[in-house]
Amino acid sequence: MLGAGHRLKLGLFGFNCTNGLSLTTAETGFSASWDETLEIARMADRIGMDLLIPIARWRGLGGDTDPFRHSFETMTWAAGIAAGTERISVVSTLHLPLTHPVAAAKQCVTIDHIAHGRYAFNAVMGWFAPDMTMFGTSMREHDDRYRYGAEWMEIVRRIWTEEEPFDFDGEYFQLSEVQAHPKPWQDQYPMLINAGNSAAGMDFAARDADVNFVHVESLETGRAYIEKARAHARDKYQRELSFMGIGFVVCRESEAEARRVATDIIARGDRAAARSYLTEFGLGSESLSDDFIREAEDKAILGMGARQLVGTPDQVAEGLAELSEIGLDGVMLAFLDYEAELGAFAETVLPRLEERGLRLPIGVRA
Ligand SMILES: Cc1cc2nc3c(=O)[nH]c(=O)nc-3n(C[C@H](O)[C@H](O)[C@H](O)COP(=O)(O)O)c2cc1C
Repeated sequence: MLGAGHRLKLGLFGFNCTNGLSLTTAETGFSASWDETLEIARMADRIGMDLLIPIARWRGLGGDTDPFRHSFETMTWAAGIAAGTERISVVSTLHLPLTHPVAAAKQCVTIDHIAHGRYAFNAVMGWFAPDMTMFGTSMREHDDRYRYGAEWMEIVRRIWTEEEPFDFDGEYFQLSEVQAHPKPWQDQYPMLINAGNSAAGMDFAARDADVNFVHVESLETGRAYIEKARAHARDKYQRELSFMGIGFVVCRESEAEARRVATDIIARGDRAAARSYLTEFGLGSESLSDDFIREAEDKAILGMGARQLVGTPDQVAEGLAELSEIGLDGVMLAFLDYEAELGAFAETVLPRLEERGLRLPIGVRA
């Protein structure tokens, strides 16, 4: 569960990779260099944000500009960010099929100690087949990914909590005398986030995670998903689950200016990369209309399916309030130029969220 403090948690998503969440050649100062990503993390820490979540990518997306060609590996990224920040939670995003659980368990604990307990772990099963083939492995059948993930998580959790060595004889792993010290810094173990929205993803989150990280396509479908997943966790596992979504922010003084910037991002979009992203996500194009495909590409270019929050500070605050109202406990934000836009967001949108009772004043956490 996401703890006390701000009613709507806020964080940043995707600033360990070039492009962040926009597939475009629109002008930006954002390059995702180490110094820049650290400065962005520190800025988010200073303004009282709650979480920093990286994207796990191993190669570019193709297309004309090969978005994500430059990306920092997220475990080592989180270790560096944890050492360079003070209060904000730091997350690593890990493809469970690509790291052995015994190695991952120790890596997570190491970051958790560097962070003095501010560490959280985002589990993803993967969706981009070329990421997998690059490792010489293939994508498992969809629901099998989650069965594998459940076994993987069970091993990690036992490593984090059991003092005595244990043997493990599962479907995917046969391990002997498993042991690791130290244990996590945190009382129990790091908060677990799962990014996945299918029925199998929902079940995995309900059983194994504290937070389900979701795509909100519309307020109606988002609300319905959250209600269903919350009930599923309660009914089947007697567990409480928190929910976080993603928002792509284009906030300017006037609505016209914000729309102009958003339109420019889309007009200069890398449609071939957007198509590659959609195809890997299973959006076969043959039977779909050109209008439908174009709209899906536009959504991929401006936020990769994130909720688009385009407008004045009042409108962006209203958009975030709507996401809170449908049941999200947190929204992870992305910007075309994180460093340049975050300061203005803090000055103009955060006070409006405070007025609405969604955020405590800057600097106050609990
Ligand atoms: C909010 C969110 C963030 C995600 N972040 C990543 C990521 O950083 N790297 C990655 O390979 N997949 C990421 N994924 C994709 C998941 O790995 C997963 O493959 C995808 O959601 C499909 O799973 P599902 O069918 O259960 O929804 C993300 C998914 C969501 C919903």
